[in-house]
Amino acid sequence: MTQRILLIISGGIAAYKALELVRTLRKRGIAVRAVLTESAEKFVTPLSLGVLTEDHVFGDMFDLKEEREIGHIQLSRQADLIVVAPATANILAKMANGIADNLATTLLLATDKPVLAVPAMNVRMWHHKATQRNLERLHADGVHILEPDSGEMACGEYGKGRLPEPEAIAAEIERLLALPRGADPLADQPDFAGDALSVLDKLEPNGNLTDKHILVTAGPTHEPIDPVRYIANRSSGKQGFAIAAAAARAGARVTLVAGPVQLPTPLGVDRVDVETARQMLAAVEAALPADAAIMVAAVADWRTADAAEQKIKKDGSGQPAPLALVENPDILATLSHHAHRPALLVGFAAETQKIAEHAQAKLIRKGADWIVANDVSGDVMGGDANAVQIVTTDGIETWPAMPKGQVADKLIEKVAHALSSRPG
Ligand code: C5P
Repeated sequence: MTQRILLIISGGIAAYKALELVRTLRKRGIAVRAVLTESAEKFVTPLSLGVLTEDHVFGDMFDLKEEREIGHIQLSRQADLIVVAPATANILAKMANGIADNLATTLLLATDKPVLAVPAMNVRMWHHKATQRNLERLHADGVHILEPDSGEMACGEYGKGRLPEPEAIAAEIERLLALPRGADPLADQPDFAGDALSVLDKLEPNGNLTDKHILVTAGPTHEPIDPVRYIANRSSGKQGFAIAAAAARAGARVTLVAGPVQLPTPLGVDRVDVETARQMLAAVEAALPADAAIMVAAVADWRTADAAEQKIKKDGSGQPAPLALVENPDILATLSHHAHRPALLVGFAAETQKIAEHAQAKLIRKGADWIVANDVSGDVMGGDANAVQIVTTDGIETWPAMPKGQVADKLIEKVAHALSSRPG
C-alpha cells in the first residue's frame, strides 16, 4: 500500500529544498500532500508544489471549501507520518506550546500520527536556549527530531542549522514509516546511526565523558579511479555513527570524521565529511588532541597510483585494466605513533575467519589499545546488528549479537570507564 506523508513546509530560506524532498520521496514511491504556511509561500509557490505532489496544496485554514470537504482533522488522519521540513524556530515554538493559529499548526495539534520535525534556521537561533528548550519539550512529547547539518548558511554565517540533504531526510522518513504502527514514539530509541537522535538524550548525558574529546572515524572511503569511478567497500557507517552518538550522549565533545555516507549527523556531534583515506587522515590529525580515538571507518587499503583526469576508455583488446594500485596510509597505525597519541586508541577489525586470532595480531601490528573484532561473513556490513569481541592486552571479551546502537552504548561505557581509570 502506498505510504502517505503530510509535508508541512514552514517559511525559511531552506523551504526551496522542500521541492527536491518531494521529488526524492515520490521517486521512492511515497505519496506527498503538502501544506504551506503563509511565510513559506514567499519561498515556494503552491503551483510548483502542486505539480510535484500531483495533489492540491493546502495553505489557508479559512479556505471554507477545503475545510468542508477535507478539514484539518481529516488531512492529518489521512497521512501515515507528518513531516515538518523545514521546521523554523517559530513553528517549533508553536508546536512545543500547542499554539494552533494556522492550518499547519492546527493539524499538528489535531493529529494522532507520528511527527518528524526537521529544523533549519540560523545557527544562533538553533543554539538559543528557547529553541533548545522547545526541542526538549517536543522530544518529551514524542516528536522525532532530525538534527540540522553544519555548514555555511544562506545568511553568510557558519554553523549548525542547515536543513539536511533531501536524501538524508527521505531515509529518515522511510525508517519512521517502517516502524510498527502504534509503536510508542518514545520507545523508539536509537539503535543505529540512521535514527533521529533525541535532544533529551543529549541534554541528559548518560555517562561520564564530560570534558573529554572523542574522535571517531566512520564509513567507507572512496578512492577515485577517474572522474566517474572509484574504489570503495560496503561499509554503511552505521556502527561508527552510533558510537559517535553514544559518546555525545555520554557528554563528550565528539568529532566524527565520516567517509561518503547518507546518514544524518547525530545530535551534538561535530562532523567532518571526507572522501579519500588521505583526506580522512588529514582530518583526523587536524582534530587532535583527543582523549580517545575510535577508528571504525573501513578505509580502502589501496588507491590508484594516479587518478586519471579523463574517463578511462576500454579499448576492446581484452587486456587487464591499466590500474596501478598503491597502499593508503594506515590512519590507526599513524595515530599510535603520533606525538598527540590519544590515551585510548581503539581499532575495529572486520574479519571473515579466525576473528580473535587476526584481531590480536592487528592489536600489536597497529599499536592500538583495543581491537573490536567482528565477523562480517554475514550481513553485518549495512545491517543493524553486530556481534563483537573486544581484544585487549588483558584478553578477549565476547559480546552477544545486539543492535549496533547497543554495541555503541556498551563500548562507550567501557571507554568512559577506561578513561576515568587512566591518568591524564
Ligand atoms: O587493516 P584493517 O583494515 O583490517 O584494520 C582495521 C582497523 O584499522 C580499523 O580500525 C580501521 O578504521 C583502521 N584502518 C585505518 N587506516 C587504514 C586501514 C584501516 O585507520 N588505512
